[in-house]
Order: sequence, then C-alpha cells, then structure tokens
Amino acid sequence: MTYAHIVGWGKYVPSKVVSNADLSKTVDTSDEWIVSRTGIRERRVAGPKETSATMGFIAAKQALDVAGVLPIDVDLIICATATPEYSFPATASVIQDMLGAPKAGAFDLSAGCSGFVYALSIGSQIIQGGGHQVVLIIGTETLSRITNWNDRGTCILFGDGAGAMVLKASADPGGVLSSLVRSDGSGGDLLMVPAGGSHMPTSAETVLQGLHWIQMNGREVFRFAARVVDKATREVVERAGLTLDDIQLFVPHQANLRIIHAAARSLELNEDRIFVNLDRYGNTSSASIPIAVCEAVECGRVQPGDKLVLVGFGAGLTWAAAVIEWGVPEPLRKRNIIERTLRIVIYPVAAIRSRVAKFLRRIEARLFGTPSPKRIDKDGKKK
Ligand code: UT7
Repeated sequence: MTYAHIVGWGKYVPSKVVSNADLSKTVDTSDEWIVSRTGIRERRVAGPKETSATMGFIAAKQALDVAGVLPIDVDLIICATATPEYSFPATASVIQDMLGAPKAGAFDLSAGCSGFVYALSIGSQIIQGGGHQVVLIIGTETLSRITNWNDRGTCILFGDGAGAMVLKASADPGGVLSSLVRSDGSGGDLLMVPAGGSHMPTSAETVLQGLHWIQMNGREVFRFAARVVDKATREVVERAGLTLDDIQLFVPHQANLRIIHAAARSLELNEDRIFVNLDRYGNTSSASIPIAVCEAVECGRVQPGDKLVLVGFGAGLTWAAAVIEWGVPEPLRKRNIIERTLRIVIYPVAAIRSRVAKFLRRIEARLFGTPSPKRIDKDGKKK
C-alpha cells in the first residue's frame, strides 16, 4: 500500500499590512465592528510586483527546500486559486516554469476557498493510486485585485498570500488518512465574480457596473459555512476510523472567527485545539489553510504523530475536509557543498532556461516561418 506523506511546507505573505484603522479611513466601518463581527485585525496586501504566481513560487520553493526535494523530482503541480495569473495559461504552469520543474504536469484548480483541501485530496489520491511519487500543491491568492475597496461588506474580509505543501509517496503508514470534497452549485450566486467569464465577458459596461469585483451574500455564506464545517469534520474523521478525541489540532479555513467558534461549539472542541491566525491575515481563500498549518508547525502546535483536521469552505459553493497524520519530516540532512550550491543556483538557472527557450522559439519561428506569438489589440490588429 502507498501512503501520501506531507514532507515539505512553505508560506509567503506580502509585507504590506492594511489595518482595520486604515480601512476605516476609506469606507464607513470601524475597528470595533470588524473585530467583533469577524475577528480580523489586519490583512496583507500584495505590492505591484507581487502576483499569485510570484507568491506561490516563493511558498513552493520553501516547501521543496523543507522536503529536500529538487524541482526536477516533482511529477505534478496543482495550484488552487480563485485569482489566477491569467484565465489561461494556468498559474501552476507559470510556477512550474519559475521552479524549473521539467517533468511536472501542472494545472489550476478552482474550488474557491476549499481549493487547497481539494488539491490535497486529489494529490494524495494520485499518489496512493501509484500515479505519481511527488506532488506539489499550492494555494495562492491575490484577492486584493478583485476586491472592491469601496464595498465595506467585502473589503474588510480578504487578504493576499500563498502556502504550499509537498506530498510524497511512502510505504510507511501515515500522511493523508482520509479526505472528502463536496459542492452545492445551487449556491454559486452567493459568492462570485459575475463578469469576465463566458457567461458575461468583460466589457466597458461590466467594468462600469463593478461586476469584475467579488460579490457576496455574507449572511447566507455564513449560515452555509457554520453548517458544513461541523458535518464535514465529523464525516472525514469517521472515514479515517478515528474519533474527534483522536485529533490534536483543527485547522479550519480562516474566514470569520464567529464561524470557527460556532463550529467549535457544535463539535464540542476547546478553543486551544483550533488554530486561528485570521486576526493577522484575514481571509486568504485557498491560501488560508496552508499558511495556518505552516504557522502551527512554526509555533510548535504540531508534533510528529499528531493528527490534524483541515476543513475548507467557500465559493461554488464548495467544501472539503481531510485528516492528516503529521509525519516526522525526513531529517534535514547536513547538505554538502554541492547540494547547497545547487539550491542557490537552481532558480536563477530556471529563469535563464525559460528566457532561452522563449528566444529559441522566436528564432525557430523566424527560420521556419511559423507565426511568432504576438498580442492582438482590441481592433484585431497584431501588436
Ligand atoms: O471564504 C468564505 C467566504 N466568506 C465568508 O465566509 C464570509 C461569511 N460571512 C461573514 O463573515 C459575515 O456575514 C460578514 C462579516 C461578511 C458580515 O457580518 P454580518 O454579521 O453577517 O453582518 P450583515 O451582513 O448582516 O450586516 C449587518 C449590518 C448591516 O447594516 P444594517 O443593514 O443592519 O443597518 C450592514 O450594512 O452591518 C453593516 N455592515 C457594516 N458595518 C460596519 C456590513 N459591513 C460593515 C462594515 N462595517 N464593514
């Protein structure tokens, strides 16, 4: 039997902090209202050069480093995001190029704030089925780019950041013990970006109407979330053949402290068994759970052998849960000089390789007459 172990983890958050007091200068809100209704005190916002791919890349590099895995060994990259770099190509492919992971397949996964747990579930099942040995999963979001900063109902909630994990095949029992993924598309309109897709392509009109921003029925999403966190947690723990008492730490999606407290009450869990960091980052959608797990590990809340429940919920509507057994990470071997040098040069070399590949493609196009990729402007003319 093959198990999928979590052998590496990493996170990245932008350095720019936006506090509740900062927001109260631009919209009609207050620190008191935001803290009492959500638990959020501040959030991180990406700088002009930070994107879902650049942040996901940094988190992925860290995770590979912790795992002692080189990009060349990665078989598959799954990137969960609601704020991809482009409609296509996939952000996962952009990150694959930045990492220089030549044999990795790559695709994006769209399941709102549940995306990372979906990626964990799918990635672990691919490994358990013998399909791949090493799967890199990433949750990365630049929600600040789709947030209407004049809408007090949403702008107080969201933040930017990224988290990643490396899943690796092992014959030793442990790793991802059980998982579930669910959806109820009838609630799709409760949390959406209405324009920009095939249903309503972007136009001057959609931009004027603000339909490219997040629209949310907060109250309904709240009710849905409080219901599914309890149900999904119980089901996934039972699937793992465990009881709630066997779980050392619960890491729910960091959306709202009141949702987390309501779930804790209905699951009869002490708050010290629940990890919360939304006060500092707000809701970072698919990045919230991997960022939280990284911080829980950093501050000693996760020990080898501990069992954790991760539960996500969000747009779709979707929800997902997983039980993981935290393995003893492969001891960070004292790396010799060659390995250390390799880790320093590997990413600049990947960037050069990417540029050379683009250059050669252009030369080839000139020599053999295939049209070189040009951008088309709004009148259909090549630029
Ligand atoms: O990642 C998953 C997706 N998202 C979520 O999980 C979000 C789930 N929902 C929530 O977290 C909460 O519904 C919110 C925090 C968004 C809103 O809290 P609420 O307690 O449900 O407030 P509400 O929408 O029922 O609004 C109550 C009042 C309204 O005023 P009136 O109509 O009672 O006069 C709002 O206009 O609070 C007002 N309000 C605000 N007041 C000050 C809404 N936003 C704000 C604000 N500051 N930022």
